[in-house]
Amino acid sequence: MSDAPPALAIGHAAPEETEALVALWQRCNLTRPWNDPHADIALAKRGPHSTILVLRDGARLAASVMVGHDGHRGWMYYLGVDPDYEGTGLGRKLVAAAEDWLKARGVPKVMLLVRPDNEKVRGFYEALGYLDEPRVVFSKRLDETA
Ligand SMILES: CC(C)(COP(=O)(O)OP(=O)(O)OC[C@H]1O[C@@H](n2cnc3c(N)ncnc32)[C@H](O)[C@@H]1OP(=O)(O)O)[C@@H](O)C(=O)NCCC(=O)NCCS
Repeated sequence: MSDAPPALAIGHAAPEETEALVALWQRCNLTRPWNDPHADIALAKRGPHSTILVLRDGARLAASVMVGHDGHRGWMYYLGVDPDYEGTGLGRKLVAAAEDWLKARGVPKVMLLVRPDNEKVRGFYEALGYLDEPRVVFSKRLDETA
């Protein structure tokens, strides 16, 4: 990569970018065996209350975030910056874009989950003004056959 700042543009992930998006998530260690990234992308892209924002460096996907709301709160998932671009402000930029997407829809608060083993990311969210609000999260899978 050159030292010149890349020509970056924010947009919505296009259907033909699905494989590149999955590859980016894998590079960012965001995928887990129990979550099918293709299904997650298809569901988020169904909209209208969710989308996937990407930061492109030319045609290359440099970062992504899934954003949506449930009628009460906004949520971010799959925030990832390609390791080649880490530490250059893209994470901050993309979170701001996700916040703007939610604000434009009147959503008053944005939330996200951090896995307990992802200690590294805490400082990032704190730098962006996010608060650690201790909660116990209950969940149940709805896609498993009984
Ligand atoms: C976390 C992640 C999105 C950060 O993206 P990034 O583009 O490297 O971060 P930025 O360069 O935009 O950093 C924004 C600010 O956070 C600070 N920051 C970043 N990581 C930090 C850390 N670990 N501790 C303290 N501050 C940190 C930066 O110093 C910067 O501060 P400044 O703007 O005041 O100078 C990126 O490292 C990543 O994709 N990690 C792997 C995937 C992941 O864990 N995603 C989150 C899932 S919850």
